[in-house]
Amino acid sequence: MGKLSVIIGTQWGDEGKGKWVDKIAHDIDIVCRFQGGNNAGHTVHVGGKKHVFHLLPNGVLHEGKIIALTSGVVIDPRVLMREIKNLREHVSVTPERLWISTLAHVITPWHVYLDTKSEESAKNPIGTTKRGIGPTYAERDLRNGMRVETMARPEKRKEWLSKRKEADPEFKTFYDQNPALWKEFEVSAAFIADYICPAEEKIRKGLKEGQNVLCEGAQGTMLDINHGTYPFVTSSSTLASQAAVSLGIDPRKIDRILGVGKVYATRVGEGPFPTEIHDQLGQVLRERGNEYGATTKRPRRCGWFDAIAMRFANEVNGLDGVYLNKLDILSGLETIKVAVAYKHPTLGVLNEYPSSSEVLKECKPVYETFKAWQQDIPRQGSFSKLPGAARDFLLKLEEFSRCRILSVGTGVDREDFLTP
Ligand code: IMP
Ligand code: MG
Repeated sequence: MGKLSVIIGTQWGDEGKGKWVDKIAHDIDIVCRFQGGNNAGHTVHVGGKKHVFHLLPNGVLHEGKIIALTSGVVIDPRVLMREIKNLREHVSVTPERLWISTLAHVITPWHVYLDTKSEESAKNPIGTTKRGIGPTYAERDLRNGMRVETMARPEKRKEWLSKRKEADPEFKTFYDQNPALWKEFEVSAAFIADYICPAEEKIRKGLKEGQNVLCEGAQGTMLDINHGTYPFVTSSSTLASQAAVSLGIDPRKIDRILGVGKVYATRVGEGPFPTEIHDQLGQVLRERGNEYGATTKRPRRCGWFDAIAMRFANEVNGLDGVYLNKLDILSGLETIKVAVAYKHPTLGVLNEYPSSSEVLKECKPVYETFKAWQQDIPRQGSFSKLPGAARDFLLKLEEFSRCRILSVGTGVDREDFLTP
């Protein structure tokens, strides 16, 4: 039996999961995306060129590995076609190497339109990426969505579209008024048909035959549809357990669950963010950490490390440990804060993350304050090379989070990290 690993975000997404996927990928045979869609975004450098991927997992650059998108993913074929074409200039992307699940759901131009319309007309928008994610999951759950299997067969696809036109006059109008969008949809649907297969079946078989599988999460724990800050969440489950659901695998077969976070916190989009920094310092972190969305280019809201949220992420995911990025960004600050509890106006001090968004909204963080280190930190090597203040800071993060720190990121380069 091969090993099954899952790596997920512990905060609000954008933790820098890609760096650690690269680090642990050497003995992995199959890398999977198991939830979300092209709301995600990661920047990678291939052949001296910068690329931003939204749908394909980071593992795609490791030529020898199989890449899979499994049942819980929502797929915009137009985006997928673009990414495959882009990538083919640098690495091989064949149907033997890229497995797109028949069971995944399809984002059509209609779903993108619905997402955009509801955000733009809402009194309290969620701040979605307007990529059609929510409407696609909604239709999946209503059981009238389009599955990849349907999209891949021209006559079935046509049937789905005709039925929808008949049932929904607004859909028909949108369809008739946007021929270019639907043409693009048709072309891309035909293009990706070659890559479609019973991916979950093949992954289960691979595992049985000794292949190692890595499931790469998108977004983060605090954006989880069930346990996150509803309604300011994404529409999929971002927790590690979702990997087993999406792959159709015995959850007891997951061998290790790895979390990724940053030594501070960011959030893009609306919703509660107790440790948000509202003054000039937030801007300093944003500029230094280049905290702008890879998908929407929106400036990310910046805040202090939230140990209550990290404890929660540890608990709901069952982490074996966490990789923390961007320690270098904190060098030279005067002081650093870490939220260790919340204070609620009527409930008092809360030591655990409140599952109610209504309660969370009213919480103020209780901080521990640290003196920062003034010198630059080493990019590589072990924690012992760090200034004392940085070492103490990490020890405290570990203690407050009740979670083992596996490694710490110290720069943009994939090799920039320190180990305990
Ligand atoms: P949606 O996933 O586009 O529906 O957006 C819902 C919420 O999740 C919004 O607050 C988005 O900003 C956020 N979100 C979605 N994908 C990502 C991501 O990859 N990183 C960070 N935030 C994300
Ligand atoms: Mg991102």
